[in-house]
Amino acid sequence: MTGILGRSDQQIDDVSFDQLRQLVGLVDYDATKDPFPVRAMDAVVFVVGNATQTAWFYQVAFGMTLVAYAGPETGQRSHKSFVLKSGSARFVITGGVAPDSPLLDHHRRHGDGVVDLALEVGDVDRCIAHARAQGATVLEEPHDVTDQHGTVRTAAIATYGETRHTLVDRSRYTGVYLPGYEPRTSTVVRPEGAPKRLFQAVDHCVGNVELGKMDHWVAWYNRVMGFVNMAEFIGDDIATDYSALMSKVVSNGNHRVKFPLNEPAVAQRKSQIDEYLEFYEGAGVQHIALATNDIISTITAMRAAGVEFLDTPDSYYDDPELRARIGQVRVPIEVLKEHRVLVDRDEDGYLLQVFTKPIGDRPTVFYELIERHGSLGFGKGNFKALFEAIEREQARRGNL
Ligand SMILES: [Fe+2]
Repeated sequence: MTGILGRSDQQIDDVSFDQLRQLVGLVDYDATKDPFPVRAMDAVVFVVGNATQTAWFYQVAFGMTLVAYAGPETGQRSHKSFVLKSGSARFVITGGVAPDSPLLDHHRRHGDGVVDLALEVGDVDRCIAHARAQGATVLEEPHDVTDQHGTVRTAAIATYGETRHTLVDRSRYTGVYLPGYEPRTSTVVRPEGAPKRLFQAVDHCVGNVELGKMDHWVAWYNRVMGFVNMAEFIGDDIATDYSALMSKVVSNGNHRVKFPLNEPAVAQRKSQIDEYLEFYEGAGVQHIALATNDIISTITAMRAAGVEFLDTPDSYYDDPELRARIGQVRVPIEVLKEHRVLVDRDEDGYLLQVFTKPIGDRPTVFYELIERHGSLGFGKGNFKALFEAIEREQARRGNL
């Protein structure tokens, strides 16, 4: 099979293509008709208040491996950047060092958050020409960056809020990340018996946008990046008694890159999306879903490292309707209940998922763990239970 960009025989950072197909729910598509062919997420880039300690958190709590670094010691005086990997997922954690670094102003406004959903593409110039013709804001024109390991061609366009998509063609580059970065390891030792890694790929990255802006950004991804619409959730699907939101999902042709977009819906009380928009000071990335092939091991390891997950009430598991709806799944329902893992089934299969509490000080960015078994969905059947759990946390923060 070569339907997906002809890469079926490739190992992608020691995750095989077939593994990836199941992990993130890939479909075949014809890349030759795509005006803006995207291969994969290149990196999720964060700006945080303390990159040194945040990089440590992702190693200890998320089992990631430190692979590269740039900072004052490597000639980059204004900020520090740590590059971490887990399977095909790459996070870059950046923080200002020089007191006049613009990153510190960014952090003052938004707190810890995602500044860049960087994408790997085969032809930066062609993508930028298409994006510009479709009205996108080009933040960085296509240019080469070179060191002794080769050349990366890159450019950047603006998306919602102060978020960007950097485009990266690394086909002529053999270095560890980008020119300017040096290989870096750390002294962190994985706990005895821990899995080799806790997740293998980024499944989807969710953006929260302002009231009335969801359709604008869906159309933007359709037009500028040739993304297709996936499942739609509106109205009652994701309304609880108090709060509501609307959500639509866009993806690249083979579904490897999936961007759900949420906006608040008018409800009795403040939507979780309103809370995000208030505390992030605008639109931004809400959660990142990490694909695992063993969610129970992953959640066990993360909990042992201190990561806090949203709770799910006993009634969720004892509901006969749920038991009838989900049928047979890999993990016995008693084990799902013990670990508070949610389960959903659709016509293609099922998925297991769980959500962390916000990982920073502000109630903004959080994570999802997702184990897919054929389902290409996002856990629509769990939205009500999930949002009620989020509302309990909102109420504890005084924001409901
Ligand atoms: Fe999600």
